[in-house]
Amino acid sequence: MAGGRIAAIGKGVGQASREIDARGGMASPPLVESHVHLDTTLTAGEPKWNESGTLFEGISTWALRKESLTEADVIRRATELLRWQAAQGVLFVRSHVDTTDPDLTAVRALLEVKEKMQGLVDLQLVAFPQEGILSYPRGADLLEEALRLGVDVVGGIPHYELTRDMGAESVKITFALAEKYDLPIDIHCDETDDPQSRFLEVVAAETIRSGMGHRVTASHTTAFGSYDDAYAFKLMGFLQRADLNFVANPLVNITLQGRMDTYPKRRGMTRVKELWQNGLNVSLGYDDVMDPWYSLGTGNMLQPAHMAVHVAQMTGRQEVMACYDMVTRNAARTLGLEERYGLDVGKPADFIVLDAPDAWDTLRRLATVTTVVKGGQVIVEAKPPEVRLLGEPITFQR
Ligand code: FE2
Repeated sequence: MAGGRIAAIGKGVGQASREIDARGGMASPPLVESHVHLDTTLTAGEPKWNESGTLFEGISTWALRKESLTEADVIRRATELLRWQAAQGVLFVRSHVDTTDPDLTAVRALLEVKEKMQGLVDLQLVAFPQEGILSYPRGADLLEEALRLGVDVVGGIPHYELTRDMGAESVKITFALAEKYDLPIDIHCDETDDPQSRFLEVVAAETIRSGMGHRVTASHTTAFGSYDDAYAFKLMGFLQRADLNFVANPLVNITLQGRMDTYPKRRGMTRVKELWQNGLNVSLGYDDVMDPWYSLGTGNMLQPAHMAVHVAQMTGRQEVMACYDMVTRNAARTLGLEERYGLDVGKPADFIVLDAPDAWDTLRRLATVTTVVKGGQVIVEAKPPEVRLLGEPITFQR
């Protein structure tokens, strides 16, 4: 490393001023969080717990909590979660921020957090109209105001607009704003089990029309898991033409979706394996950490990857490895970080060391991130837990 950048890679490349003994562990580019909500995080139980665990009780609980929202409150909680994530090797984060608030309190707060955390975590913000662009009073104006204030990405929530037509129209507004301000797009799209929720095709059509390609991301798309196969097959071809990114949130999708089903109960996750097999860029997010929609969590990105292995049935050797890519390289692509991300000479010296020899073992054991290096500086050092059984060390290795 020299000047905060990777100077050379390999054996015998000269003496370094500091050496890190990885003890057989893997070096990897940092973990990347491609979908989280920092404005709602760390509020679980305030003012009440979501006892039913449904999306709807989550929304009504958040409406109560939102009444006491202040900038200081958002800054404190968002900063805390980013510190948890950095401590676990997550150095790049994309967070959605609710713009359906006449005061844009959370937007102002998270813009301040982004500034404050520079140097530790690179934070991207998505203007997210939680209660709709057309269905919330002045929804489109507030969305645009957030962009003017400096939010990096334009969002949308077409399935939550009052009618199907309003949903399709809202997607067009998102694209028009993205083209006007030359910004990427990340839309909460079809986050429902309803197989009639088909806004993904509208997003694909707008992506093809605008030529924005991988600057467009469709998040959640859980209804894709409920489409019939004939439609899904046709749609997949359009998605390949559009070349947009997908973000699935396995921990939250498996718990929030399928709640109206008795049995058989749907998994409620988009077709992660099939999108990956068809060459589309798929990444994974945590979505919620200790908030009204998901009261558990620590922000450790290995957990959604581990859950994806199970929910998407990606248990083949290469498939498990692919799930690790979904919280590292693929997620970096979603965030548009290709030029500055990765273990290549000349790129910023950002990397992690894991207590596991490869990506497969990392997910099998949910390995510890033992070292985090940011810009050539060691910012985290951690020891894997030491377990002894009757005095003998246990390593959980064959
Ligand atoms: Fe989300």
